[in-house]
Amino acid sequence: MSGNEVFNPSPEFSSRAHVGSMEAYRDLCRRAEEHPEIFWAEQAEKEIHWFEKWSHAFEWHPPFVKWFAGAKTNAAYNCLDRHLETRGDKAALIFEGEPGDQRTITYRQLHEEVSRFANALKARGYKPGDRSIIYMPMIPEAVVAMLACARIGVTHSVVFGGFSAEALKARIQDLDAHLVLTADAGWRRGKELRLKDAVDEALKECPAVRDVIVYKRTGAAIHMQEGRDSWWHELEAQASADCPAEQLDAEHPLFVLYTSGTTGKPKGILHTTGGYITYTTCTMKWVFDLKEDDIYWCTADIGWVTGHSYIVYGPLSAGATCLIYEGAPDTPAWDRWWDIIERHKATILYTSPTAIRALIKQGEAWPGKHDLSSLRLLGSVGEPINPAAWEWYHRVIGKGRCPIVDTWWQTETGGILIAPMPGAVPLKPGSGTLPMPGVLAEVVDFEGKPVADDAEGFLIIKRPWPAMIRNIWGDPDRFQQQYFSRIPGIYFTGDAARRDKDGYFWVLGRVDDVMNVSGHRLSTMEVESALVRHPAVAEAAVVAKPHEITGQAVCCFVTLKLGDWDHHKLGLELRQWVAHEIGSFARPEEIRFSESLPKTRSGKIMRRLLREIVTTHTVTGDVTTLEDLGVVTKLAAQHDED
Ligand code: WT7
Repeated sequence: MSGNEVFNPSPEFSSRAHVGSMEAYRDLCRRAEEHPEIFWAEQAEKEIHWFEKWSHAFEWHPPFVKWFAGAKTNAAYNCLDRHLETRGDKAALIFEGEPGDQRTITYRQLHEEVSRFANALKARGYKPGDRSIIYMPMIPEAVVAMLACARIGVTHSVVFGGFSAEALKARIQDLDAHLVLTADAGWRRGKELRLKDAVDEALKECPAVRDVIVYKRTGAAIHMQEGRDSWWHELEAQASADCPAEQLDAEHPLFVLYTSGTTGKPKGILHTTGGYITYTTCTMKWVFDLKEDDIYWCTADIGWVTGHSYIVYGPLSAGATCLIYEGAPDTPAWDRWWDIIERHKATILYTSPTAIRALIKQGEAWPGKHDLSSLRLLGSVGEPINPAAWEWYHRVIGKGRCPIVDTWWQTETGGILIAPMPGAVPLKPGSGTLPMPGVLAEVVDFEGKPVADDAEGFLIIKRPWPAMIRNIWGDPDRFQQQYFSRIPGIYFTGDAARRDKDGYFWVLGRVDDVMNVSGHRLSTMEVESALVRHPAVAEAAVVAKPHEITGQAVCCFVTLKLGDWDHHKLGLELRQWVAHEIGSFARPEEIRFSESLPKTRSGKIMRRLLREIVTTHTVTGDVTTLEDLGVVTKLAAQHDED
């Protein structure tokens, strides 16, 4: 691959695609740009069931937007009820547990399960406006939990099972949730991931929680607290399967999903109902070119936005068959994914560059043992895909036949904003290519002025789209400040990008103190706050360093309180400490001890210098504002001794 190769859609792919030519794509974009109200109203009417219609498609009073306000709908109704007549016996979910257990759940069965569980929640008094936390393994019941909440208007917040009890606690408290849905444990690399234990730990400081409902997944011995905890199967057995979907306002809060910002405190990103379900359904068809007989597999976890939009709401609303797999890609061996694709004849695979790199490392023999000819489309998300990973994914997994859709989006955007429509848009490896219809993306300078072709700048979105963030839970000021203050009234993504002469976007990475580890967002401040909570730590500065597999890795510079410390032991302990405070995915790759940290005269830690030390192992540029230059040289020198 030369680095600037272009891959045109094959005539065969284009002829069967939802959007089969550049003209068709341009036509959608033109209509969306010229008449957004009409365009989105048309999409919403075509793709979504409404109990009552809206009067205006959207109202935009920056930073606040409403889509289809006044209209009534229900996300779960769109994912289930409306398919019963035409797709009742079609598989909605094909599940494979890590130990090898399998279940196929049809739309009719999923509808029944969700209705029963929704009734169980209603029986315990939950109603529209209440909030729940979902802390579950990747099993069908996680989907049931989300859809049951959506059905009765309970706003859910899924917390990734890899988050620790501490992180879980902070989210329960911020959301003031009264209900927690969990499981005894899940399977991960043959071991039990003990979720209920973490819930018990978190709830020591969450007195507002009234109910914990526990699904029995592994049969682990757990503690059940009288009066608070109940078994999922017992509640479900008592509940009726007749539970009409609540007719909710289009702007009813569907879910809150916490993500890292630039401070130590995660932000609760709020998404609502009508615009979100419209946009995720449309992009499911545009980007994944979804067909009735596709077997679609997104390998994300339900705890991230990818799981919300492209495992649950988008695909099910579009009537897809979704594969879900509970466990690790290397269990029992490194061909687990390829084995799953072969056995279930998956047609679409959507995964992350970090996963691809981990699989590349294991060699081509693993995929070589399996028949992957069912695949017709590949997707990538989470970070820019590097040329080597793209080439391998295309050649070894896609056998050179499958387009790769590189999808750029964020927790805040709710759905994919920049990605190719695979039957129309020629691919350039490493570029998310062109925006979705109605997404007015641009690359600008500090003042908000567009930069020249190929120049670097900030990626912004000039007009609201239906799935955009509505607010930060409980913090409208931070919402305004974070996303709409840099360029007043315009959505600021926090990413740097450039646009080439063909209008293709190349996203370069974050411009703030947010790291991207294995496609998961993590703030430097969050890790720093965790470190300074440790009794030995005086100060900490955290930067990302490049990593072969995870893209970036966490590197911590730490100064210690007075004492006689065993650096080796303490280094291990601090890594474990961060995993305990945040979650194992945040475990630092490296801890470096130092007598002091480089600071400006005003006392601000100069992370730029530290970043330079970990990436280039030298320090250049302007260091005149340093309080103690000796510190930097010492840190830089230390690396060479390692
Ligand atoms: C950040 C959002 C979207 C779901 C997963 C991550 C980076 C994401 C791409 C891509 C280049 C990407 C951006 C973005 N990012 N996808 N295809 N190409 N960068 O969601 O945790 O909200 O992170 O991930 O930096 O801002 P998230």
